Amino acid sequence: MSIGTCRMMMMTLPLALAADGSAADEKEQATLSLVGKEVFLDSTLSNPSGISCMSCHQPEAAFADPRAVSPGAVLGRNGRRNATSLMYAALIPNMDQEDMLEDDGSQNWVWQGGLFQDGSARTLHEQVQRPFFDHAEMNVGSEAELASKLRRASYAATLKTGLSEAEWGDDAKVANRAYRALVEFLKEPVFRPFDARIDDYLAGDGQALTMQEKRGLEVFKNKGKCADCHFLHATSWPEPLLSDFGYDNLGVPSRGDKDPGLGGHTLAGEEVGQFRAPSLRNVALTAPYFHNGSIASLREVIEFYNRRDLEPERWGPTDYPETVNKADLGNLGLSEEEVTDLTALMEAFTDRSLLRMRERGERFPELVAGTPASWKMRSYFPDWNHSAPPLPPHPPYRGQLLETKTLPTSQ
Ligand code: HEC
Ligand code: HEC
Repeated sequence: MSIGTCRMMMMTLPLALAADGSAADEKEQATLSLVGKEVFLDSTLSNPSGISCMSCHQPEAAFADPRAVSPGAVLGRNGRRNATSLMYAALIPNMDQEDMLEDDGSQNWVWQGGLFQDGSARTLHEQVQRPFFDHAEMNVGSEAELASKLRRASYAATLKTGLSEAEWGDDAKVANRAYRALVEFLKEPVFRPFDARIDDYLAGDGQALTMQEKRGLEVFKNKGKCADCHFLHATSWPEPLLSDFGYDNLGVPSRGDKDPGLGGHTLAGEEVGQFRAPSLRNVALTAPYFHNGSIASLREVIEFYNRRDLEPERWGPTDYPETVNKADLGNLGLSEEEVTDLTALMEAFTDRSLLRMRERGERFPELVAGTPASWKMRSYFPDWNHSAPPLPPHPPYRGQLLETKTLPTSQ
């Protein structure tokens, strides 16, 4: 989000779990995660069959899609946004509001977190359901259809553990089991190794970055203002996620159809055209860039930040010029060398586990020794209590001010 001279932002940290979960819960989590991987790879669930989660979230692209938009199960139907990386996706905070203290002392409410680049899924649990039923993605007709395919899957017996016979007959319960399984899978250590060179550097290893990358880091922190939105410090997780998960309209080049982003579902005019700031972890592997895949390379992304307002003809029209952030980017005054240094720095954000996987031609990254298990980290995940937090009262949501008195007390 745009940061004026001294806006203050708080992130909500999960409360420590009241009691230690039981060994049975730990086992349940492990089982769900195993079956989650099977669901993730299963290309028989789509209608027609043929695509799985992995078709659009490819390991060698850090589980993003190297194509600007992804083709769905139905021939000729394409999505409209660039598929994001699933690395660190289970660490994205739930959609919520934070109060910001403006320069003039007034208080403002801003959205933060949420899944999909427009935050239209409040939680990961809500998010993983949608690709199944999206007509431009897996195109499953109904939860009943999904449940019947799941009951016939090779991993059905594992999916069934923990469900009674009656529950196994209930379509919603069977589908929900698969959603929980996907969430547990995405929380696995392979998706959050924190083994990029920037991690070593931030942990005190001065040799982990080259001289050029160190110069790039200075630009990232100061003249480029990148760290104002792509945080280098830890917030909701013990390690930095390189994002504040706030929303902004950067004025990226239009690809035709207008995409209203955040404002499309909050229905607040000033939020139209805004998208969530992504984590920059593994960004060197996830071209093309921005929510619509409109920019092909990292160097161009940085040239765009640096010179957007000086060369409008180079970038062309944007979807919603009226809400573009003019304060924090567009004319940064970076020299050619600074642009080169900053571009080089982005390589230091790549996890070595993914680089090794690519070098060896393997299909899945290996576990990095020392990455804590999901069970150990359970109170840090936004999904820690497996339920959606109450919708916050501000600002008017879908054009209506919510009734504060009906909301559960905030934690
Ligand atoms: C046809 C392509 C396609 C398939 C199949 C697909 N996805 Fe996605 N996925 C996308 C696109 C495109 C986005 C970004 C959409 C957006 O931001 O609105 C996305 C976003 C996501 C996100 C959100 C990440 C973030 O940064 O907010 C998650 C998590 C995710 N997908 C998981 C899955 C899972 C799990 C499956 C299988 C059940 C799946 N996807 C199947 C294309 C696909
Ligand atoms: C005002 C907040 C803000 C600042 C400052 C900022 N970014 Fe971003 N960044 C965003 C948002 C929001 C997006 C997503 C925009 C979209 O997709 O429409 C983004 C997207 C990106 C992407 C594309 C990632 C992807 O996977 O598509 C890169 C790379 C990036 N930023 C790098 C930088 C660098 C380098 C700087 C400093 C020169 C910087 N950002 C400064 C908010 C910011």
